[in-house]
Amino acid sequence: MSVPFKSSDGKITVPSLLHRKSLRVEDATKITCLTAYDYPTARLLDEAGVEVLLVGDSLGMVVLGHETTLPVTVEEMLHHTRAVRQGTRRALVVADMPFGSYHADIAESVRNAVRFVKEAGAEAVKVEGGERRLELIARLTDSEIPVMGHVGLTPQSLHALGGFKVQGKTPEAAEQLVRDARAVEAAGAFAIVLEGIPRELAALITRELRIPTIGIGAGPECDGQILVLHDLIGLSFNPLPKFARQYTNLTEIISSAVREYCLDVRRGSFPSDAESYHMPEPRGSRKEINIDVELTD
Ligand code: KIV
Repeated sequence: MSVPFKSSDGKITVPSLLHRKSLRVEDATKITCLTAYDYPTARLLDEAGVEVLLVGDSLGMVVLGHETTLPVTVEEMLHHTRAVRQGTRRALVVADMPFGSYHADIAESVRNAVRFVKEAGAEAVKVEGGERRLELIARLTDSEIPVMGHVGLTPQSLHALGGFKVQGKTPEAAEQLVRDARAVEAAGAFAIVLEGIPRELAALITRELRIPTIGIGAGPECDGQILVLHDLIGLSFNPLPKFARQYTNLTEIISSAVREYCLDVRRGSFPSDAESYHMPEPRGSRKEINIDVELTD
């Protein structure tokens, strides 16, 4: 299932991302990441040069229509990761482990993570949580599965956090977040998502860590940025969060194309004669027309 690659073809790998962090700040270019959930978006993003494609469990909200990410299952994530894998050549494919798939027994969590690599072609997995994921992250990296951490506003902790709220705003909360980020690094993660935290705190964590930080709602000082694709392309029915930037409005583009199609069908202007098949020109008289002809031209 995985696509073989040569390091010379520009393939983004875990070591190449770690190398970027080791460069002097002025020499390092920011890491570009986006979520992807299917073959066409993965292919477009990969061909446009996005370096990390995260098959985020945000698919539960933006693609499957749930109110939170919590109902997303391992099978759903595997299904979408396979599709993203099929559309990706250069980017690193990271699969989000959904809620419940790494919260009980460590051995079961490792087995679930192995499925993402073995059955769906993921090159890394992402898990939410800081200090309390130390053992899990260490076990996954020991099992040759690269791990991306995720701290701050972790959507799978929605009920524990009491809503989608910016985290780390008090000195105590900020200190805990620094401890969480250090724990994720110490456990062996190759990168960490910082979500919904003050810019100043994200900048401090970015300076402290030797692994790249990927920000979402965490300011511009992070080593890279990620957004939910559907926020960027305007294909979401939820209010846009303050940190997201919408570059186009696919909701409007799709609605207007579909309205035009319906109008054309109703008034009989679709399909036109040019969009229709024709019987072959009769060789002799009109009576010789062969009606068994295949309509494949
Ligand atoms: O699921 C997701 O899309 C994410 C990113 C927003 C980091 O976790």
